[in-house]
Amino acid sequence: MRIIKTKDYNELSLRGARLIAAQILVKPHSILGLATGSSPIGVYENLVAEHQAGILDFSKIRTVNLDEYWGLDPSHDQSYRYFMDFHLFDKVNINKENTRVPNGKASNPQEECEAYSQYIQDIGGIDLQLIGIGSNGHIGFNEPADHFTCGTHVAELTAQTLEDNKRFFPSIDQVPTKAVTMGIREIMQARSVVMVASGKNKAQAVKDSLTGKITPAVPGSILQLHPNFTLVADEEALSLL
Ligand code: GLP
Repeated sequence: MRIIKTKDYNELSLRGARLIAAQILVKPHSILGLATGSSPIGVYENLVAEHQAGILDFSKIRTVNLDEYWGLDPSHDQSYRYFMDFHLFDKVNINKENTRVPNGKASNPQEECEAYSQYIQDIGGIDLQLIGIGSNGHIGFNEPADHFTCGTHVAELTAQTLEDNKRFFPSIDQVPTKAVTMGIREIMQARSVVMVASGKNKAQAVKDSLTGKITPAVPGSILQLHPNFTLVADEEALSLL
């Protein structure tokens, strides 16, 4: 495990983007696992700037996203497909056909999950997975539970996650209560994992994930076992360590 401690969110975003930029430069046809939420927005801004400066070429890159709200149409402005188009895909030279986000409106959820897991395998697995962390320690939408779920699955969101994410919706009743998420197997099979964590409200989850017992009650704790895991976090997120 490697920890990159940054002064603030801006520096975190720069350092996180550099790790992804290095991956793209070393392997232009990389498979990137991508994340949503407020934490990676600055990373995407830096990547877009590097693309506009002529440094980064996304033409051969493929991406798979961690998760998607169940029941939201891709055109919904809080869907993760919309988020990715808005923050990254529409601003770089990526072929949209090479970007995949779980389909939150699939008619058969089981088939969608199996097809998503299979797709990740078929394209050769993820080179670098960017990931955030929920205040309750969730990764993707793998919520605290009594067991780890391996493959892509439909997850029931916890009350804490609904509370955390209600800021993006007109009211808490409109936050979807389920999501399709990559499972722990897909995340752990990524050849490298880069987590970004910012702010005081992540400090407990960061501490529990990094130094606590490895347990499904704190899904992020599984990353202690990943052979190539980097945490990029600001001082506030690291304040309990
Ligand atoms: C959502 C996403 C996670 C993300 C988490 C934290 O629940 N499914 O992938 O890590 O929120 O989000 P934020 O970065 O906005 O705190």
